[in-house]
Amino acid sequence: MESRAYAHALVDLLFDHVENVATRPVVEWTPARELRDLVRIDGTTRDPLALAQLVARYSIQLHHPSYMGHQVCPPILDAATTDLLISFLNQSTAVWEMSPIGTVIEKEIVRWLADRAGYPDTAEGTAVSGGSAANLTGLLAARARFDATKRPIVVVGADAHYSIARAAAMMGIPPADVLKVATDDAHRMDVAALEETLAAVEARGDAAVLAIVATSGSTATGAFDKLDEIALLRDRYRTWLHVDAAHGASVLLSDSLAHLVRGLEQSDSFSWDPHKMMWMPLSLGSILVRDGVWLRRAFEADAPYLFHAGSENLGEMTIQCSKRADAIKLWLVLQSRGTAPIVDAIERTAALTRYLYERIVASDDFEPVHEPALNILCFRRRGFDDEQTAALRERLLRSGKAWITTTVLRNERVLRVTMMNPRTTERDVDAMLNALRE
Ligand SMILES: Cc1ncc(COP(=O)(O)O)c(C=O)c1O
Repeated sequence: MESRAYAHALVDLLFDHVENVATRPVVEWTPARELRDLVRIDGTTRDPLALAQLVARYSIQLHHPSYMGHQVCPPILDAATTDLLISFLNQSTAVWEMSPIGTVIEKEIVRWLADRAGYPDTAEGTAVSGGSAANLTGLLAARARFDATKRPIVVVGADAHYSIARAAAMMGIPPADVLKVATDDAHRMDVAALEETLAAVEARGDAAVLAIVATSGSTATGAFDKLDEIALLRDRYRTWLHVDAAHGASVLLSDSLAHLVRGLEQSDSFSWDPHKMMWMPLSLGSILVRDGVWLRRAFEADAPYLFHAGSENLGEMTIQCSKRADAIKLWLVLQSRGTAPIVDAIERTAALTRYLYERIVASDDFEPVHEPALNILCFRRRGFDDEQTAALRERLLRSGKAWITTTVLRNERVLRVTMMNPRTTERDVDAMLNALRE
């Protein structure tokens, strides 16, 4: 098949696939061995469209209204189509001379995101691959300002994403120096316990807190830490506040939900993933640093063939050298459709999660583990132990009727839903609960 014909046919295939996705199972459950046989590279050449069809068929169908799984979204179609533009032109945005247009678009997106959060003009940032890279980058900026004569301690909430401990490990900070603060009844970092931890570190003398890491939209329960109270402690103990808002920062766009991140503007840095609650295809994360000097300081590099004084290079503020121009897809959506589709999706998925919570409260066979703050809810089947819960979830996935996850919360395995699809309806939510019952 000729390349242009393949491109046209592929776009049609994908739009048809998304439009008809509800007629498919959420996943066609297939053992890994069978999948491997299907993709074996054996020297024969095949029709590219047939190969694309194979990939589409065996994918987890994120566009399916019964997909309520992890925090990966069914992307806005215009953004997904724009990925083709990004790949075709292949602009590498770390270096200005390789992508003037990609660079200014990324800087425009960074400025737009920083403005939404109420950051000052000193703020800088970059697009990154996602929350994990953003968290590492935020901590590297914190270290650039840290008093290097002291032993660095990172203080996090007990439900912080694992990427924080991993970032600390990559920076040579051992697990014993990543101090976990207990969570309160609403699964937020307990502010009184945080203060005790900060005071204990200060009393040691040999160590100092490199950063407090708060979370806005925790992975397990979607809880939002009390940022304004935590910022006061940051001031009192003169340290850095990084907020992992990879999941939750997008509520800034919604008038009714923005209160969840009150105080974010006081942070020193934060992570915000448009590939989560802004419905961008993977990948597009971002890191914003209130005073961009520390971001630049963290990545000072000697590369005279690329970086020249006074230049616009994004590569002077990031880990990457080859750097995909992913900000273009968000820029194009914002410039052509505005924020309405994103705000609508945020508010719809939050309302549906509330609906699920109410259905569970009203039932005699399920119970919620917490109230949802946004679009994540953990719940349990009454009377089920950890093994039964894991088996229940697996049976549901195999049935193809719905896709949910599980996690361990305070030593108990529970069922977990992340409502990521704005096309999910109340009927789909009821059907998911009924499928679990069956
Ligand atoms: C709160 C939080 N932070 C960070 C991450 C990591 O983001 P990414 O998968 O984009 O690296 C996640 C992922 O689910 C998350 O929920």
